Amino acid sequence: MHINPHLFILPRTPGQIVWDYKNHKQFELNLKYSTRLAELIDDPNNFNGQHTIDAQLLSAGIISTTTLVTVEWGWDELSKIFHIGTKNIPCNHVPHDIHEWSKQYLDHCTEVLTTPAPQARACERSADALTVLPKPCRLPQGSLAEALIKRKTCRAFTGEAVSLESVSTLLYLSLGYLHERENDIDDGVVEGLGARRSSPSGGGLNACEGFLLVQNVIGLEPGLYAYRPAEHTLSFIRPLPVQPLGQLLCGQHFINNLPVGLFITSRFDKLWWKYEHSRAYRMAYVEAGHISQTFQLVATAQGLHTWLTGALTDNQVEALLGLEDSAEQPLFFVGCGQSDGQVMCMELKALLNAQGQEQ
Ligand SMILES: Cc1cc2nc3c(=O)[nH]c(=O)nc-3n(C[C@H](O)[C@H](O)[C@H](O)COP(=O)(O)O)c2cc1C
Repeated sequence: MHINPHLFILPRTPGQIVWDYKNHKQFELNLKYSTRLAELIDDPNNFNGQHTIDAQLLSAGIISTTTLVTVEWGWDELSKIFHIGTKNIPCNHVPHDIHEWSKQYLDHCTEVLTTPAPQARACERSADALTVLPKPCRLPQGSLAEALIKRKTCRAFTGEAVSLESVSTLLYLSLGYLHERENDIDDGVVEGLGARRSSPSGGGLNACEGFLLVQNVIGLEPGLYAYRPAEHTLSFIRPLPVQPLGQLLCGQHFINNLPVGLFITSRFDKLWWKYEHSRAYRMAYVEAGHISQTFQLVATAQGLHTWLTGALTDNQVEALLGLEDSAEQPLFFVGCGQSDGQVMCMELKALLNAQGQEQ
């Protein structure tokens, strides 16, 4: 007999909350049950199938007949609980198509809007000591300012093909190791950690990596590719999955014909090699955010529109990228393509219109 390795226990007088964070289940144990669990933790071989509590703990998955596989984790339990506990979030029903998604999203927004919005920040509630800033008229000229202003999240794409040159530029400027900076590395930088990207990187480790999803790029077979930043090359991983892209992104089907996208991953093993404390886990996301923004600005500067999400159907994405039980984990997705710039998909707009007409 084995104790489920993905449990943590919270004291909540008069009971104990046993939380199976991998399977998103919680159980409240009274003194009798928690005492019995403590005995089984002390020696799982004391398990007795005839014992009612033991049988219940077994059927709840708190105890298991088989050894449950645990991933290798280089930080403390806190980040592990958070990372695994927020994966594959339970969803009663993943929308199968764009109509289902639109309905579900609209219902969700309607429900949220029935509760009051959070108050303004304390510093914004007082009018004291205000310094009025001059008009931001001194914007730097050129494509950066333009890209910053034009970048917006779109949710309708034409599906039109994107050129390979465009994809190459996107990857080089977002994730590539810049040749232009090779002669600009300080002497103190440790050998092997000299590669520099357009985005800053925690500890100079370049822990973030990218997998390109190709649906419609001229000159590239549709499929998944790993980007290799040192060589600026792509290695083919596998063809596109049978299920539409939206299925991998928690049912956001409006995105199914996005021509190209990037799954941004983080090499936790690199981070925990240099940074022992699990606070470094936060940095993985901060770095992914930098890369996502750069990708969007480069895409915008090329006349493309962008979309992004952190709502990954983790187990499917990991399988697709070949990262199951790996120290490299997918964190974010960003994509781009031609669009008429619509913020909302047609199907959601139609529902909103219908709702407006009913009122
Ligand atoms: C961390 C993060 C997660 C997001 N996730 C989603 C998402 O799952 N689906 C989506 O359609 N948009 C997503 N967005 C886009 C936001 O809805 C969008 O940025 C916001 O509405 C502001 O619009 P703008 O990007 O056009 O300025 C996300 C944005 C961020 C920064």
